Amino acid sequence: MPRTRTRTARTDQPRLPGLNGNGAGPGDSAFTLNRAEPVHRWVPWIAGFSSSFVDDILDRVPVAEGRVPTVLDPLAGVGTTLVQAMRKGWNAAGFEINPYAALACRAKLRIASYDLPALREAADALASYVAERSEAESAVPRSTPPQGFRSREPFFSPSIERQVLFAMDFIADVPDETTADFLRVALGATMVGYSNYSYEPSLGRRVCAGKEPILEADVGAILRAKLEAMCDDVEQWQASAVAAPEAQVHLESYLADACPVAPNSVDALITSPPYLNNYHYPRNTRPHLYWLGLVAAPKDMKHLEHESFGKFWQTVRAGPEVELEVDDAELHEQIAALRDRHRDRGVYGGHGWANYAATYFNDCDRFCARTAELMRPGGLVVIVIGNNIVQGIEFRTDEILARLAARHGLQCTDIHRVRRKRTGSSIINSSVRVGKAGKRVELYESAVELTQAAVRQAAARVPSRSAA
Ligand SMILES: C[S@@+](CC[C@H](N)C(=O)[O-])C[C@H]1O[C@@H](n2cnc3c(N)ncnc32)[C@H](O)[C@@H]1O
Repeated sequence: MPRTRTRTARTDQPRLPGLNGNGAGPGDSAFTLNRAEPVHRWVPWIAGFSSSFVDDILDRVPVAEGRVPTVLDPLAGVGTTLVQAMRKGWNAAGFEINPYAALACRAKLRIASYDLPALREAADALASYVAERSEAESAVPRSTPPQGFRSREPFFSPSIERQVLFAMDFIADVPDETTADFLRVALGATMVGYSNYSYEPSLGRRVCAGKEPILEADVGAILRAKLEAMCDDVEQWQASAVAAPEAQVHLESYLADACPVAPNSVDALITSPPYLNNYHYPRNTRPHLYWLGLVAAPKDMKHLEHESFGKFWQTVRAGPEVELEVDDAELHEQIAALRDRHRDRGVYGGHGWANYAATYFNDCDRFCARTAELMRPGGLVVIVIGNNIVQGIEFRTDEILARLAARHGLQCTDIHRVRRKRTGSSIINSSVRVGKAGKRVELYESAVELTQAAVRQAAARVPSRSAA
């Protein structure tokens, strides 16, 4: 089996002088910049936007007088776009299939309406409960580790696991679901930090990254500190925020046949889809999903994989040939060339990767069809996406996406290079040299800008997804 490397390297590259931040395009897109920022700091997320990047774009959205604009992030992650839209008092709508990301997103979108004294009281009571119960040697938690969760080594040390289970006991007894969700977000955001796993950047055992296992931690104190910071952010927001707009995240696929967002209703869409680099969001959030009770069994994880934009190489590699359903001669040629690579390696060679690339671009096309349906005429669409190299073949995903979008009536107005990534920092079993001459290819990230050119007479049907 080929070695799988899934670095997105979105997190460690400097802002590019001349390419962004010079008035020509949006600023730095990396989530790292969010880590110290109120609200965005609640949950670390490897593949998120920076809030300043979103602000740069929102500042350019044409706003008709007397109408509150609607901003959509159809692949909302932990909600950077939606939070920034809300900050401006604009309506925010999102889709997110990962229940952990959706939980974090929803908790942020509720920020204007929290009962802050009740949150502070619950936070304090949780921390005290965990501390007191874990000190009482005879105390036994009611909660048990999630049945369906398997890990190569125990996820938590025995002492830490006992504290986590007491935290789960406490949260299960909180009658108000909004408060319980707020506490769950804190537990989810901190849990990998006191586990025997870490992100490097995919979830892996600490020992594999040369780190010592964590045997002891004061989970109550960690939760207290996290929740205090979250409550401070709520306080700051409530003291300063503008009128609360409509804000909602749908825990469903943007590519599903039915769509809860009205056609021609979106003023700005800002998003970053999964890249063609096989970064496995469901796998990388397995601990959160299981320990927070958001999934119960491997079949729930399978469902998530199948619903994911582009699915995953592991999901489609072994099936029959996946046909590219889009009318783009250049892309057909590239995928045919990919399918031809390393035929002797079966699904681990070109066939498997071509199935993944075809699935990915079929979903890009569905994404464009749905987006064209929802945007208002003149609305602004910004999609941050990186190129990738699969089995030595470069896919300039930004340019491909722009071509697909044009077929659905979304006109590409610009492609800004927002980030140059480290050479070789991406993709699975791929060389960063392309072609026989060994031409070096730069891995980059672009913001593809599109506008909805005209009023659509009738919304075109978004083609259904095959079950492959
Ligand atoms: C690159 S992340 C977006 C990060 C976001 N911009 C932020 O700042 O938090 C892509 C997200 O798309 C979600 N996703 C994948 N397929 C989806 C689908 N079909 N519908 C909705 N969300 C999906 C993934 O779970 C992941 O959270």
